Amino acid sequence: MKQLHKQSSLAYRRDEEQLSSGDHASSYSPKALKHHRSIPRSINYIFKEQRLLFILLGILIGSTFFIIQPNLSTFTPSDAGSAASLPKSVSLFDREALPSRKTYPRSTAGMMMQQQRNGRIPVGIGRKRMRIVVTGGAGFVGSHLVDKLIARGDDVIVIDNFFTGRKDNVMHHFGNPRFEMIRHDVVEPILLEVDQIYHLACPASPVHYKYNPVKTIKTNVMGTLNMLGLAKRIGAKFLLTSTSEVYGDPLEHPQKETYWGNVNPIGVRSCYDEGKRTAETLAMDYHRGAGVEVRIARIFNTYGPRMCLDDGRVVSNFVAQAIRKQPLTVYGDGKQTRSFQYVADLVDGLMALMEGEHVGPFNLGNPGEFTMLELAEVVKETIDPSATIEYKENTADDPHKRKPDISKAKDLLNWEPKISLREGLPRMVSDFQNRILNEDEGKGQK
Ligand SMILES: NC(=O)c1ccc[n+]([C@@H]2O[C@H](COP(=O)([O-])OP(=O)(O)OC[C@H]3O[C@@H](n4cnc5c(N)ncnc54)[C@H](O)[C@@H]3O)[C@@H](O)[C@H]2O)c1
Repeated sequence: MKQLHKQSSLAYRRDEEQLSSGDHASSYSPKALKHHRSIPRSINYIFKEQRLLFILLGILIGSTFFIIQPNLSTFTPSDAGSAASLPKSVSLFDREALPSRKTYPRSTAGMMMQQQRNGRIPVGIGRKRMRIVVTGGAGFVGSHLVDKLIARGDDVIVIDNFFTGRKDNVMHHFGNPRFEMIRHDVVEPILLEVDQIYHLACPASPVHYKYNPVKTIKTNVMGTLNMLGLAKRIGAKFLLTSTSEVYGDPLEHPQKETYWGNVNPIGVRSCYDEGKRTAETLAMDYHRGAGVEVRIARIFNTYGPRMCLDDGRVVSNFVAQAIRKQPLTVYGDGKQTRSFQYVADLVDGLMALMEGEHVGPFNLGNPGEFTMLELAEVVKETIDPSATIEYKENTADDPHKRKPDISKAKDLLNWEPKISLREGLPRMVSDFQNRILNEDEGKGQK
């Protein structure tokens, strides 16, 4: 039976071969002819079973998707880098789809900056929204920086232990989905996914940093180490707010960034001065050794709304005293000089530094130089011409002269302060008046 089946299948194959070779011989035609015949066949294929309809539908869906999601069509390798820094659970699609976008649209300021640089930009394509940490963001300078970053359209996370900062300074952002506040001490590590870190956390006035000097130096060293470690781990840009105090009681005037300073390493101010010098060292070592993109700002005396009342800094002292109808306290002979920068100018400088290409350090201050007595006169003119002056003994290590040379910032950051003392001072007076009034009312209620 098996043999019969084998024979019949062999016979069948032989027949098939003969048939195909015969067919081949009889229907031979040149290749070109075959090609002509295949065109109508493919057209037939496309039209059969509504295939054309499906192809057109596919093209339509594809083009609609890329029109609605223009950011995807402009996705560049640099975007890819920052997208990688997002938490795994938040994809690029999720970020763009956040409801916050509807409630708090991207500010025109950031868009305009970009537009100015690149000329006209099609609707829907703007600068990338960043997630930014501001340590010490509930403090005086930090809160103004937060305002500007939020206005630019970025997501901001404030880290603060409220040692000198106040919730009141950032309360106007509560409820904004682009704003987050974390009560945290920077001497402890923290893990976050962000694009930039502005590291401001540190008490800035002598009254506050001398209150607990060990904590001040810890904040400067451990706090800066923790934030640099975070920057290294997540590939974020890091900006340190250092200070003109790194120049100590300067022997060079005005102070250039190249001046190494004249600092007492064992004095009562050293926790702050040497702390900031160490913080600068750490920043540079992380930059050289670990490739962290760092920026260093050396901030000179800054004033404005939201400064702590009674923090011992000369501008806030004079303004608060004049409002309270108290004599203005001048330490020493009042001939020591300072330069005073309005906070909005400083915030512009910090952002220009962060966005620029240069590590620094950069002096950020107003070169206009005033003696303490001249400052007292401006405060009297602005608030109360009848205010009197009271002289007291000067504090240890108080620098005699302080004036920034800002030519480096002018050249490389295209930045210089715009607001003079006489323009800036009135802008902080109403804020101080309200807070002093509330304080007095609070005392009355006790
Ligand atoms: N304002 C100036 O004139 C001036 C001058 C030079 C440098 N700076 C620097 O600028 C930064 C901000 O100064 P400011 O004037 O806004 O001072 P500020 O005291 O108002 O703000 C400092 C903020 O840091 C917070 N902070 C302090 N220690 C912390 C810690 N361990 N963990 C978390 N948060 C902490 C405080 O609560 C506060 O909110 C500081 O680094 C300061 O050294 C300021």
